[in-house]
Amino acid sequence: MQLLDGKLLSTQIKAEIKIEVEQIAAQGGKKPHLAAILVGNNGASETYVASKIRSCEEIGFKSTLVRLNDTASEAEVLAEIEKLNLDPDVDGFIVQLPLPNHISENRIMEAVNPAKDVDGFHPINVGRMCKGLPAYISATPFGILEMLERYKIQTAGKHCVVVGRSQIVGLPMAILMQRNAAPGNCTVTICHSRTPNLAEVCRSADILIAALGRPEFITVNYVKEGAIVIDVGLTRVTDDTKKSGFALKGDVKFDEVAPRTSYITPVPGGVGLMTIGGLLTNTLLASKKAIYG
Ligand code: GUN
Repeated sequence: MQLLDGKLLSTQIKAEIKIEVEQIAAQGGKKPHLAAILVGNNGASETYVASKIRSCEEIGFKSTLVRLNDTASEAEVLAEIEKLNLDPDVDGFIVQLPLPNHISENRIMEAVNPAKDVDGFHPINVGRMCKGLPAYISATPFGILEMLERYKIQTAGKHCVVVGRSQIVGLPMAILMQRNAAPGNCTVTICHSRTPNLAEVCRSADILIAALGRPEFITVNYVKEGAIVIDVGLTRVTDDTKKSGFALKGDVKFDEVAPRTSYITPVPGGVGLMTIGGLLTNTLLASKKAIYG
């Protein structure tokens, strides 16, 4: 069993981007600029956004955080999006999810200029990705592809089972793994809450991607000997032994599953850290106008 070390890889990716930012600056170019809109005070979102902003500082990006109260109307969020769409200094921006219930996430995602949509959530970016056209690929699937590539894991011809059909992870992940590309060329199965015999389907996976958001749901009974297991879960569960009062749990019961695998991602220290690498890479692409010109 080998650990897929998201911490190590994300450090490498950030170092590579930092060098490129320095080269851009040396040639008189402007700093890539990422903005984030955060609505309300969801604890996990606060942590994620703070970490995105900190990463920008580390690698020499400019960053802007736009904070709105959780009572902000959809129109107010749309107005902030329009300002960022029109701001020539902002290369890319994200609206952190989830949003309060009174705001339509779909309307918000569609309002972002696709050329600045570094989360890759706009239907135009999702559609372009499906067609294999240049597009921003959402950060978590992007990070997982990067992980498979950097560990030189051969995926062609393998059976990849994705558990979870979310717009952010499960669905794009499945599309990317079936592409005629490397990583890719898998036979892909998408499972979800209505899948009968889930454990049996998962046991047929050479590559198992768990993105269902249920802590420690995937036990040893779901995993084939020698499988590659990618754990996208990151749920806060109360833990009185921790100073923070909570522990972060993945979707995979790591201790019993790990010995059965050939490769596995830890939580924390796995996919979560790769996600930021994806977002920063997309922002660099946006600043170079590499996708939309
Ligand atoms: N919430 C959880 N993951 C993400 C992400 O990748 N982007 C945004 N904007 N919100 C999220």
